[in-house]
Amino acid sequence: MNIQNIAVIGAGSMGSRIAQAAASSGYVVVLEDTDEERAGTGLTKIRESLAKSVAAGKLANAEYTDILARIKISASLDECVNSDLVVEAVLENEAVKNQIFKVLDKLCPTHTIFATNTSSISITRLASLTARPERFIGMHFMNPAHVMRLVEVITGLNTSGETVNTIISVAERMGKTPVVVADSPGFVSNRILMPMISDAIFCLQEGVSSRENIDTIVKLGANHPMGPLELADFIGLDICLEILEVLHAELGEKYRPCSLLRKMVAGGRLGKKTGEGFYEYN
Ligand code: 3HC
Repeated sequence: MNIQNIAVIGAGSMGSRIAQAAASSGYVVVLEDTDEERAGTGLTKIRESLAKSVAAGKLANAEYTDILARIKISASLDECVNSDLVVEAVLENEAVKNQIFKVLDKLCPTHTIFATNTSSISITRLASLTARPERFIGMHFMNPAHVMRLVEVITGLNTSGETVNTIISVAERMGKTPVVVADSPGFVSNRILMPMISDAIFCLQEGVSSRENIDTIVKLGANHPMGPLELADFIGLDICLEILEVLHAELGEKYRPCSLLRKMVAGGRLGKKTGEGFYEYN
């Protein structure tokens, strides 16, 4: 199927960067959020990022203008009516996602593919509440989505082969490397990444070493761009806890989140977005 128009629902850090990646690859994009201000903030982030690329000589002025011209912001799901693909990137709450897909299911033409950027909710379960489970798929971008090359493509039980192939083509046009996985708790990315983050927090909690040492060991010892504690701050400790809860509930004891992580989330130290997590931010 030929995708031309993409709607991205949710203009937060993931949604705005997905919209940026899509518009930069020639897609016409609607970036939707609950109000104009939120959608506008997402667009500002995109504009600033593109302006940095222009200043660095990586993007021509004309391209900057063209990319921005391809993005329209909206505070209404009605604007998604002409989309061939909807990528949902709202908060990680199943009821909220279900509500959005319920509205979109009525609104969008039957050919429209629904993709969710969920990091841990079952694709099969989300799809089952729509009338188009064969055109429902997981499209899991990594943060920051305009830079990271991976798109984990998650097939629900009823996702059709045609939908998978279409999403692979879209991800490739965005310059990403799509990797197809089955619907399973935490998929593959978070099933591997979150236990590493969790073990780093256990090491900190048990006084095995300092936050800086733990991060340095992984950065220099395993050649990771960020240490696990820094990465947890970057992702958001609330998100890490939510994913670990899913892994723990569905895959067992090995994934039990540690009490330090629970305490930090309860105390509102969620990482970079709140100014404090394992590190302090201005
Ligand atoms: N917080 C927010 N944005 C950051 C950041 C940070 N700590 N560090 C860098 N960035 C942004 C920059 O602002 C820049 O954005 P711009 O294009 O709009 O200017 C962009 O990332 C690239 O920055 P740089 O050119 O300076 O690149 P670096 O060489 O510093 O690399 C990085 C930055 C790409 C973030 C690199 O440190 C990295 O790869 N880190 C690991 C990221 C990672 O593992 N992501 C996956 C998280 S797991 C996930 O997303 C799944 C989910 O379900 C939890």
